[in-house]
Amino acid sequence: MFDLEQIREQTPVGHIDFHHQIGSTNDRGIDLINEGLNSTPTLILTENQTAGRGQRGHKWWSSQGSLTFSYIFPIDNRSFNPIPIALAVAEAIETATPLRSLKIKWPNDILFENRKISGILIETVTRPQQTLVVAGIGINVNNASIIPQDLEQLDDRGDKSNLLRPTSIRGETKSDTSMTELLIQIINRIEHVPRSHEQIFDKINHRLAFRDKRVSVKSSSGNFTGICEQISTSGQLIIRCDDGSKKKIFSGSIHAI
Ligand code: BTN
Repeated sequence: MFDLEQIREQTPVGHIDFHHQIGSTNDRGIDLINEGLNSTPTLILTENQTAGRGQRGHKWWSSQGSLTFSYIFPIDNRSFNPIPIALAVAEAIETATPLRSLKIKWPNDILFENRKISGILIETVTRPQQTLVVAGIGINVNNASIIPQDLEQLDDRGDKSNLLRPTSIRGETKSDTSMTELLIQIINRIEHVPRSHEQIFDKINHRLAFRDKRVSVKSSSGNFTGICEQISTSGQLIIRCDDGSKKKIFSGSIHAI
C-alpha cells in the first residue's frame, strides 16, 4: 500500500514510524515527542487508523482507502500559522489526481464541490528548546464513494444538518490514486510552503470556500451571521457583519446559510 523506500528517497523525512494499525497518528506523534523524539521531520503513517481525532473534539472516521498520517516538524516561533498546510494539501491533491478547484473551508477542511475530502488537525507541543508541530492529515482517497451516514458526526450544536457531506477522490474521479505519490507531494509542499507570506494568502483566499457568501459563525467571541470575506495574513477569518462592521475570528467554525 505504501512504498516507504520511495518516501525516504523523495522527501526530507528523517524517520518513518509505520503501523499497520493504530488508534490515532496524532496521539502517537505527541507520545513520541514526550518520549524525547529527536529526529525531525518524522512521519507517522498507518494503513488503518481506528480512533482518529478531528477538530473541536470530533472523531475522524476512516475506512480502507483513507490516507491518514501525521507529519512532525519543528518551528522557531511559537505563533505558528496552520492555514498554509491546507493549501499544501489542496495543491498536492490537484497535482496527484485529476481533481481541480478544491476549496479550503476555514480553518482546515478541503472541499470538492462542497463535499469534504480531507480534514486536518494541527497540534503543537512545546519543549524547553523547541516547539514541534504535529500536522495530522486525513484524506478520503481510494475509499468507496459512499461513506455510511450513520458514521457522520454531529456538529458543535449536536446537529447533523450543518455538517458537510464527505466524499472521496475515488468517488469523484472513479479511479485509484497512488497513496505514496500523494503523500510525497504533500510532504514536499509542506516543506516548501512559505509559512506567512502575502502571496500565499492570495492563493488561499482564491480557494476560500463560501467567499462572499452568507455564513453562520460559531466562535469564541460568540455566534453570529455575516458575509465571509477573506483570511488575513495571520490566519484569522474576516467576516462582514450585518451592521457593516468587520470581525476577525481566531478560532471557531463556519457554516453556509
Ligand atoms: C477534522 O476534519 O476535524 C480533522 C481531521 C483530522 C484527521 C487526521 S487523520 C491523521 C491524524 N490523526 C488523527 O487522529 N487525526 C488526524
